[in-house]
Amino acid sequence: MVARAQTFVCQTCGAAAARWTGRCEACGAWNALVEENTAAPRRSARKGRLFVVEPLRGETLETPRLACGLAEFDRVTGGGLVRASVLLLGGDPGIGKSTLLIEVAAAYARRGHRAVYISGEEAVAQVRLRAERLGLMEAAVELAAETSIEDIVTTLSHGRPPQLVIIDSIQTMWTQTVEAAPGTVTQVRGSAAELIRFAKRSGAAVILVGHVTKDGQIAGPRVVEHMVDAVLSFEGEGSQQFRILRAIKNRFGPTDEIGVFEMTGSGLREISNPSALFLSERELGSAGTAVFAGIEGTRPLLIEIQALVAPTSLGTPRRAVVGWDPSRLSMVLAVLEAHCGVRLSGHDVYLNVAGGLRIAEPAADVAVAAALVSSLAHASLSADAVYFGEVSLSGAVRPVPQTAARLKEAQKLGFARAIIPESARAEAPEALAVSTIGTLAELVADIARHGVPAGAPSGDGRK
Ligand code: TYD
Ligand code: MG
Repeated sequence: MVARAQTFVCQTCGAAAARWTGRCEACGAWNALVEENTAAPRRSARKGRLFVVEPLRGETLETPRLACGLAEFDRVTGGGLVRASVLLLGGDPGIGKSTLLIEVAAAYARRGHRAVYISGEEAVAQVRLRAERLGLMEAAVELAAETSIEDIVTTLSHGRPPQLVIIDSIQTMWTQTVEAAPGTVTQVRGSAAELIRFAKRSGAAVILVGHVTKDGQIAGPRVVEHMVDAVLSFEGEGSQQFRILRAIKNRFGPTDEIGVFEMTGSGLREISNPSALFLSERELGSAGTAVFAGIEGTRPLLIEIQALVAPTSLGTPRRAVVGWDPSRLSMVLAVLEAHCGVRLSGHDVYLNVAGGLRIAEPAADVAVAAALVSSLAHASLSADAVYFGEVSLSGAVRPVPQTAARLKEAQKLGFARAIIPESARAEAPEALAVSTIGTLAELVADIARHGVPAGAPSGDGRK
């Protein structure tokens, strides 16, 4: 007789427990345990077979990477998809994952690769409808609406091996190798494992779509993130048209690159010059905004930082941040209080990074501080100035990497001046009026005096 292995599996982290508990002991998630049958498939016991081991030096596949020609997608993947690799694309429902991937599939098909798109959520007719809307009807993408992993693998192993297989989504797939119900962690993990095996065997690049839960995790199976070669996330604010593709993990490429797209009526449009887009709706001359010259991966990016500092009516003032690290904001506020005589404990502070972008760089400290002080003092900053620099706890402004690239981008977009750390002056190009600051207090004093730091040679700075 075969023992039934009825266990409780956490739908968040995949840990198994013998008894149901309200809280998963492994990851702490509440009410996440679901009874699943995790019994291994009954296979007749067989002896292992001999296989051939190979030397390290040997035949490699002709091109390990395949670019699709969509520059933003290729950049984020690190120059194109790697053969025999598996990539997980996560994102909120409705953000545009299916749209992005049908465009990617069409781009590969256009280059003569065999691209197969398998939808477990929509009927073939619905996928076709979308392709029609995107003007991709001529692309030689192969479509199917299937959810059985065994059927999919058998079909794909037939005929010319595909270069690209898209599975939309992994949560809808099920495999016979595990007995758990479809949609459970065990099923998702089992299905992903089968597809990974298929990718390694056939040399195809497989993209799995994963849904994201409310708290921002790729739903249920965190385990899948560990199994795949790369994890990308597709992000954006629902109300805005910008979409950002970001690498979270990549065994074969960088994880700090972003791809920027705009959702239009006829699909996703690539934004090759995001700085211009992010600054296009800027209100010139209003207090509380500063332009930050940042770097995302290898690409410089100019981003507007908006701050609102207003007297509070609460005992504990509000600190609300969108697009930046809240603890970093607390630090900048503390430095302003301690070293610059700027008292903000009686004020609510709101900080927003325009365009729905998220900045991780400490280099934004100076731009944030400038926006805060500008809002507090009702003094608008010069509209043609960019800011960057890291603030240390002592109030000193420290240099950040890639000064030249940041300034070049600013110059390209018509900015005439830059406020940068003292030690970065040597790297600045001639054409830009550069003011250097050694401490945050100098910046505060200058904004309070003129609304624009002194020492910049041209113009009165006000617009
Ligand atoms: P979709 O790719 O289906 O999202 P996901 O697969 O991530 O759930 O895209 C859904 C949204 O995108 C939908 O609200 C409509 C919008 N959309 C456009 O604005 N333009 C288009 O050309 C397409 C195809 C979709
Ligand atoms: Mg979809």
